[in-house]
Amino acid sequence: MSKAFYVTTPIYYVSGRPHLGSAYTTIAADVLARYHALRGERVVFATGTDEHGEKVAREAAAAGKPVQVYVDEMAQAYVDLWEQLHIRYDRFIRTSEPQHVRVVQAVFSKLLETGDIYLGEYAGWYCVPCEAHLLESEVQEGCCPDCGRAVERISQPAYFLRTSRYAQRLLDHIEANEEFILPDTRRREVIGFIRQGLQDACISRARSDWDIPVPGDDTQSVYVWFDALINYLTVAGYPDNSAQMGDTWPPDVQLMGKDILPRFHATIWPALLMALGLPLPRTLFAHGWWLADTGDKMSKSKGNFIYPQEVAEELCELSGARTAVAIDALRYFVLREVPFGLDGTFGLRTFIGRFNADLANDLGNLLNRSLPLVDRYLGGVVPEPGPGAGELADDIAAARDGVEAALAVADYRGALEAIWELLGKGNKFLDTREPWTLHRDGKMVELQAVLYDVLDVVRSVAILISPFMPVVAEDICDQLGLEPSEALQWRLVEGGKLPPGTRTRKESPIFPRVDMARMEAKLQAREAAVEKDKDEERQEATTPLLSFDEFRQMDLRVARVLSAEKIAGADKLLKLQVDAGEPTPRQLVAGIAQEFSVDELVGKLVVVITNLQPAKIRGVESNGMVLAAGAEKALALLTVDRDCPVGTRIR
Ligand code: MSP
Repeated sequence: MSKAFYVTTPIYYVSGRPHLGSAYTTIAADVLARYHALRGERVVFATGTDEHGEKVAREAAAAGKPVQVYVDEMAQAYVDLWEQLHIRYDRFIRTSEPQHVRVVQAVFSKLLETGDIYLGEYAGWYCVPCEAHLLESEVQEGCCPDCGRAVERISQPAYFLRTSRYAQRLLDHIEANEEFILPDTRRREVIGFIRQGLQDACISRARSDWDIPVPGDDTQSVYVWFDALINYLTVAGYPDNSAQMGDTWPPDVQLMGKDILPRFHATIWPALLMALGLPLPRTLFAHGWWLADTGDKMSKSKGNFIYPQEVAEELCELSGARTAVAIDALRYFVLREVPFGLDGTFGLRTFIGRFNADLANDLGNLLNRSLPLVDRYLGGVVPEPGPGAGELADDIAAARDGVEAALAVADYRGALEAIWELLGKGNKFLDTREPWTLHRDGKMVELQAVLYDVLDVVRSVAILISPFMPVVAEDICDQLGLEPSEALQWRLVEGGKLPPGTRTRKESPIFPRVDMARMEAKLQAREAAVEKDKDEERQEATTPLLSFDEFRQMDLRVARVLSAEKIAGADKLLKLQVDAGEPTPRQLVAGIAQEFSVDELVGKLVVVITNLQPAKIRGVESNGMVLAAGAEKALALLTVDRDCPVGTRIR
């Protein structure tokens, strides 16, 4: 069997709900997997969940659940999201699987025998959220340089991987193989990191119930990162099935965020493979981060996660597009908007802007203009190309070559630009060749050639975009009257492959345009609401502290509402007479007329402050105030939870 194209994502921690960041790597890997499958290659696309470690155990405990139950639920959230995002993986690996546990222990035992793993003593810093050992020099004012949270000092016996033994070989490999670490900025960063000196990696910790036990030592468990990296070997069948291993190993592309490249994937991981005598992956690609539109990395502590389903729903609501199309649009957007490798800021306006410009206009227009013309002039049947056809064949070939060259180095943006150039050519071709004029002038042969060429571009584009937008590609095939499973093959990205006689279908537009003014109004209303909340928070945060004596100066009393009446010309105000246990009723003005009726107020026990300076409101004297919950509107009135005499002091 020929070697499969093997692509991986990091396995995700199950400590939180998957968000746009986790989706990004997985979408990118899915595109490569689909692209290679489209070319007829065998593909192994693996993703999964990283389920051991201190952090997960702590979170399960906080959720009050047994760890296995907790990780089962959390892993399911990933499985569900991948299904919604049209992710077609071949293997979903979970590190709590018995098979993986066996592989980790086998690797550990083997390297103990070869002396690549040894028992030592770890004294240093540990960041629980990142599950990372840190050097003294890396700790910044007691905090982790990556996540900024407090680190813990640990000192314990531990096993080490002799990473230092492989530092020079690794440097030589990186220098000799330019494609081993991409993009180039990251490659240079890693070279610098290794040159500083590679310390042996600590790969165990004091025994915990949840982690994988170190074989033959019941005081120690395997460190979560060592366990996690080995997932890529488990997927390939190591060590039981060396034949299958040969068909899969080594990985062609391993994708990840830039945070986990230098310290883990570009050092411990290759050193581990060298120690096992296995070939290294062809490419490790580290992409940038998606930041929230405040410019911050998405994180639990900031609570600023963007969730792909929510973004897609927003687009559906604004445009009326089908959910599956909105998901494809998001897949397109994240890979088109930012060069793979750099950071990007996610904003709904930019997303919708691209949806309108690239999808509704460029792609949608080509479809929505060409199909009705074929319908009107040619009875909805793909014509024979005839003499003069094939004018766009070179452009189709150029787009195909462009995509191939770009995807060979995970340049998704470059690939999409090559496709959009072809779309531009198709649209321009329609403008300049004016099929409506050819029809008017009775130039039927030319008309057929022009419409054939345009539909052939549409068909080729459907294949080219199918790794990025699989559902949209199928929709386009449907509109062209083609069977997606037959039409979507890479070798058919070539001019002249559209079968004449095919009957096209009339369908509604795939990408209904978003009304930008409506969106703007909606976003502005939302932003104003957020601002208001922030203001309130700020006000609360700046409220000065009161001393007990100051608090005691407020004379709060239980009172009964005796009567209530509207104040003429003031919608919000009521004039109340209350019995606060004093010789005569007290009159106050309260801004609660819109929330409370006279009937529900009269007879009610309320809480009033009686020693406020008197004021005249709309000419009515007010001696005190009724207390209510709610910043602007009164949401509820304060009362007492059992009957007590009017005039009772509140303290
Ligand atoms: N479990 C480890 C990986 C072990 S792989 C042997 C881990 N998990 S993680 O869930 O914290 O993050 C995994 C990956 O999610 C990152 O490397 C990156 O690929 C992706 N992202 C998480 N947040 C991200 C952004 N804000 N932006 C882009 N990708 C991000 O580390």
